[in-house]
Parts: sequence; structure tokens; C-alpha cells
Amino acid sequence: MQEQILNGTAAQSAREEEIRRIIQAGRDFIKMPPEAEEEENDAFPGYKTDQEQKKQQPPLYKRASGGRVTPLPSDYGSLALNNSILSVIFARKSSRIYTDEPITLLQLSFLLWATQGVKSIRGNNYATLRTVPCGGARHEFECYLAVRNVEGLVPGYYHYMPDRHALELLSEGCQDDDINASLCGQRWALKANVVMYYSVIPYRAEWRYGIYAHRTILIDAGHITENLYIACSASGLGTCAVAAVDTAVSDRMFALDGNEEYIFYAAPVGTVSPVSEKEEAEIYAFLKDEKGAASP
Ligand SMILES: Cc1cc2nc3c(=O)[nH]c(=O)nc-3n(C[C@H](O)[C@H](O)[C@H](O)COP(=O)(O)O)c2cc1C
Repeated sequence: MQEQILNGTAAQSAREEEIRRIIQAGRDFIKMPPEAEEEENDAFPGYKTDQEQKKQQPPLYKRASGGRVTPLPSDYGSLALNNSILSVIFARKSSRIYTDEPITLLQLSFLLWATQGVKSIRGNNYATLRTVPCGGARHEFECYLAVRNVEGLVPGYYHYMPDRHALELLSEGCQDDDINASLCGQRWALKANVVMYYSVIPYRAEWRYGIYAHRTILIDAGHITENLYIACSASGLGTCAVAAVDTAVSDRMFALDGNEEYIFYAAPVGTVSPVSEKEEAEIYAFLKDEKGAASP
């Protein structure tokens, strides 16, 4: 009996130690590692990135794979946009309750341009300059879409091609089960007009930053969704960043290999109304019991 208790205690402390180790590894990942150039800190003497070794730069974008291509409109001047930066930033919030209204292709186009749109090319195809900032302008992300309710598009899975500002249809039909499982059971997303899924192609950043690339990738991802929030806020739509993404399920939806490219972030987008706001507040109703406030 005593032996069982001792064994149980040993197993418990081994587990706690393992958890502490994982947490420390996470903390260390966020820190900037010692600069390789500084001799005294150099953990990898003589380390050179692939760019420094003059290896070929990876492509800036993924090419179309043979699906039907829909060019996107770009006359954003005809959109009903709130142009007051003050009120757009003030109104920015996460929205998870959507109405059944469709969104137009122009609205969707605006969101894609605002989050990944290409403005110009730096050098001889060295980098793209886009509507969002990105470490070294590597723009290591791709955007995939589960389109449910967008005028002018058949429901299905799509890929955004920023160089052509166009969508490629990957497969027709949009499965609720896929969306639900890909977002770890967040069923509220099943009423979204479109779910944006962001993949990373790590080598685009690794080519330039090597072992230092991965921290920057996560920082860069935040810029994309913040622009999405701002663009939704300006155009009267709702979105919510989603980190609880099942990578394996999402990768299957868009036929990604899961290592050279994989989904790690998502954002459902939908139409919202003042009624949605009330329902949204209900999500945080549990706080009433705690502090007397039910506002998100
Ligand atoms: C990186 C990130 C991940 C998030 N993941 C989720 C998520 O998986 N599910 C969800 O309902 N909300 C998610 N959110 C939304 C946050 O809960 C929300 O931003 C927060 O409660 C503050 O509310 P606000 O955006 O309305 O200011 C996420 C937000 C960010 C920035």
C-alpha cells in the first residue's frame, strides 16, 4: 500500500517536472535566441542560413493547380466602408454570431486584399510588399477558404492567389463536419459566410532566417488577422481569430502535406446585426456570476 502511494507520488512529480519542462521550452521559444554573429553567444559557430549560402530562393507564391479560377473585383471605392479610423478601431471586436445574409464577391475580395494583397514587388522578384508587414517581407503564408455563402461563388474549398488577386476552386462543396472538426468543435463557425484558413510554408522564412525563422512566423501571423478585423470592422462584417485549429483535419481539407505547408490559424467571417451583438454578449454570461459583468 505504502509502496503504491510512493509510486503514485513519483509518477505525479515526474509528470509535473515534464509539464514544467514543456512550459519552459515554450517560454524559451518566444525569446530571441543569442545572435549567431556574436562570437561569445554563438551556439552554432559558423552557422549560415540558406540565403547566406546562396541557395535558390523558394517561390514567392503557390501556383494554380488546375482548378477553375475566379478573378476578384477590386473597385473597393464602391463598397460601403466606414472610413473613420477612430471608429473602425474602436468598433473592432470578435464576432461569433452571424446572420444568414450572403456577402458579395467584392466584400470578400476586399478582405483578401486587406490581409494578403500584393502592392508591389521588391527587387527582381526578391519579395512582395503587401498590405500587411512581414519579417524580411518573406510572406510565408497562404490563405485557403471554405466558402459557404458568397454571391457569385459556388460553395467549396478555394485558394487565394495574391499575385493574380484571384481565387482557385480546389473542390466543390463545403462540409459542416469538416469545418466543425477543423476548428476543434467550435460550432458557431458553421454559420460563417466564409472561413479563412491560414497555412504557413516555413521554408520561405527559413531560407532567410534559418533557425531564427519560427518565432517571426507567429508574430507575422498576427498582422494578417488584425487587418482582417479592421477590414471587417470597416465593412460591417464580423470575424473572430481562431487558434484552436486541428491542423491534420484542415490539411486534409486543402490537400496540404502537413510539414512543408500546414494550416495553423483560421478566422470565420460572417454577416452581423445588432441582434448578433446581444447573442454575442451571452457567450460571456458566465461572468455575471463572477464579477457582475456580461460584456466580452
Ligand atoms: C491568437 C488568437 C486566438 C484566438 N482563438 C480563439 C478561438 O480559438 N476561439 C474563440 O472563440 N476566440 C478566439 N480568439 C478571440 C479572443 O477570445 C478575443 O480576441 C478576446 O476574447 C478579446 O475579445 P475581442 O477580440 O472582442 O476584443 C482568439 C484571438 C486571438 C488573437
